[in-house]
Amino acid sequence: MKFHVLTLFPEMIENAVHTSITGRAAKKGTISLNTVNIRDFSVNKHMRVDDYPYGGGAGMVMEPEPVYRAWKSVADLRENNGKKPRCIYLTPQGKVLNQTLVEELAMEEELVLLCGHYEGIDERVLEEVVTDYVSIGDYVLTGGELAACVLIDAVSRFVPGVLSNEESSQFESIQDNLLEYPHYTRPEVWKNRQVPEVLLKGDHKKIQAWRMEKSLERTRQRRPDLLEKNRPVTTAFFSPTGGTRKAAEIFTGYLTQNPRYLDLTRRKLRKKKIRFSSRELLIAAAPVYGGQLPVTEEPLFANLQGEGTPCVVMAAYGNRHYDDTLAQMKKRLEEQGFICIGAIAPVIPHIYSSVLGKGRPDEEDRKILKKFAVETKKRLEKGRTEGFASVQVPGNPDPEPKQMKPVKKTFDSALCTNCQSCVQKCPVNAISQETLEIRGDRCLNCMCCVKVCKAKARGYDCSQVRQYLETHYSTPRKIEFF
Ligand SMILES: Cc1cc2nc3c(=O)[nH]c(=O)nc-3n(C[C@H](O)[C@H](O)[C@H](O)COP(=O)(O)O)c2cc1C
Ligand code: SF4
Ligand code: SF4
Repeated sequence: MKFHVLTLFPEMIENAVHTSITGRAAKKGTISLNTVNIRDFSVNKHMRVDDYPYGGGAGMVMEPEPVYRAWKSVADLRENNGKKPRCIYLTPQGKVLNQTLVEELAMEEELVLLCGHYEGIDERVLEEVVTDYVSIGDYVLTGGELAACVLIDAVSRFVPGVLSNEESSQFESIQDNLLEYPHYTRPEVWKNRQVPEVLLKGDHKKIQAWRMEKSLERTRQRRPDLLEKNRPVTTAFFSPTGGTRKAAEIFTGYLTQNPRYLDLTRRKLRKKKIRFSSRELLIAAAPVYGGQLPVTEEPLFANLQGEGTPCVVMAAYGNRHYDDTLAQMKKRLEEQGFICIGAIAPVIPHIYSSVLGKGRPDEEDRKILKKFAVETKKRLEKGRTEGFASVQVPGNPDPEPKQMKPVKKTFDSALCTNCQSCVQKCPVNAISQETLEIRGDRCLNCMCCVKVCKAKARGYDCSQVRQYLETHYSTPRKIEFF
C-alpha cells in the first residue's frame, strides 16, 4: 500500500508514520510513504501558497494552483488503466471514518491524502481532484496532518504483513460494533485485585463466552450507540462435501467474529423453524446442482423465517455455471420475509472433476470475498438509515426442474465395516440402515457417502460427465457478486 500525502508540513507525517508499527512496515516495504510539499509547487516568487478569501472574513485560503500541481505530480505518475488513485481530503465536513471505511480503503493499492491548512482550500481545486471527504471526528484540528496520520495508521493495520499476524487486524470486536473485553496479564493479584477466575482455568469455551459477555456489557455501558448497530450474523448452509461450507465460512469470517452456523445438510435442522428479527443478518449458502438449487424433501431454507431481515445469498459452483440458483434463492428467501441485499457466486471444487474449481477459493478469490464483505457492511450501514434495497440477480427464479442423469455408484460389501456413517450423513436419508442400499429416487448424487466412507467401500464412476465438463468448462471463472 502506497500513501502519498500532499501537505505543507511533510516532517509531521514522516515523524509519525516512521515510528512504531507503521515505521517497521515502511522499512519492510509493506507500506510506503511519499510526502509531497505543496509549497514546492507555489506559483509565487515568495513561495506563498495562500491568499485572502474573496468576500472578506478571517483567515487565509490555500490557492488552487499549487494544490493542483502537487496532486498532478502524483496522480499523473500513478495513473493506472486510466484510473487515478482515490484522493482523500481530510476535513470535519467529511464522512466520519469508521472501521468499514478503513477496511474499504485498505483494499486500494494507493491513496492520495490531501491536508489543508488555514481556513481551508479553494473549493474549485477540491472539486477537481478530491474523490472522498473524510473526517476523523466532530472537532477541528489546526491542519489535516494529524488526521492523515490517524487514517494511515488505521488503514495500515489492515494491510497484510503490517501486523505480525494478519488475523490480529480482524481480531477486534469493533468489527461487530462491540467494544473489546478487558485484558489482564501477570501478576494474578495486583493491589488486591484478582484476575477473573475463568481466565486462569484454560477452558477455551468458557473463556470465549466470558469475553463475549464482557464485550456486550462494556458496550452497553460505554457505547450504547454502537450496540444499536450490532447485527448478529447467521450463516445457514447446505454442503454435502464441504466446498460450499468453506466458501461460506471464509466470507462470514470477513464479516463478523461471532457467527452462528446452521448446517442445513443435517435433515433435522432443515425441519426446525428458525425465526430472524430485522436486526439480524442471514447468509444463505448452497451448492449449484444442474444450474439450480439442490432439491430436498424439506426445501432448502424453507424453514427460515425473516421479518424484513437482510440476507445475502451465495451459490457455490464447480466452475461450469450457477445459472438460476441465485435467482431461486433470492425469490425463496424474499417470500419468507427476508430482503436480499447481496448475492455472490464463488467457484469451488467440482465433485465430479479434479480439474474444475481445483484449489478454489484461492488467494484472488479471498480478496473478492473480502471486497464483497466490505460492500455488504456498507449496504447494511446504508440500510439502517435508508431502508434495505433488494438487489437484482441474473437467472430465472422459477426454472423448470432439471432431470439429471444419475452417476454410477459402486459398493464393495467386503470392505464395509457397517459403521453407518454414510447412512447418518446422507443429507436426504437415501441409504437404507439395514441393507445400506441407495434409494435412487431420493439420491442427490452429492457423493457425501463416498467422501465419508473411511473404509473406501463406496465409490463412483462419473467419467462421462467429467470428460464433458473438462472439455467445455476448464477455463477458471471469476467470482461474480451483485
Ligand atoms: C448433482 C450435481 C450437480 C452439479 N451441477 C453443477 C452445475 O450445474 N454447475 C456447476 O458449476 N457445478 C455443479 N456441480 C458442482 C457443485 O456445485 C460443487 O462443485 C460441489 O460438487 C458441491 O458442493 P459441496 O462440496 O458444498 O457439497 C454439481 C454437483 C453435483 C453433485
Ligand atoms: S446416497 Fe446419494 S444423496 Fe445420499 S450421500 Fe450418497 S450420493 Fe449423496
Ligand atoms: S460409511 Fe462405508 S463402511 Fe460405513 S456403513 Fe457406509 S459403506 Fe459401510
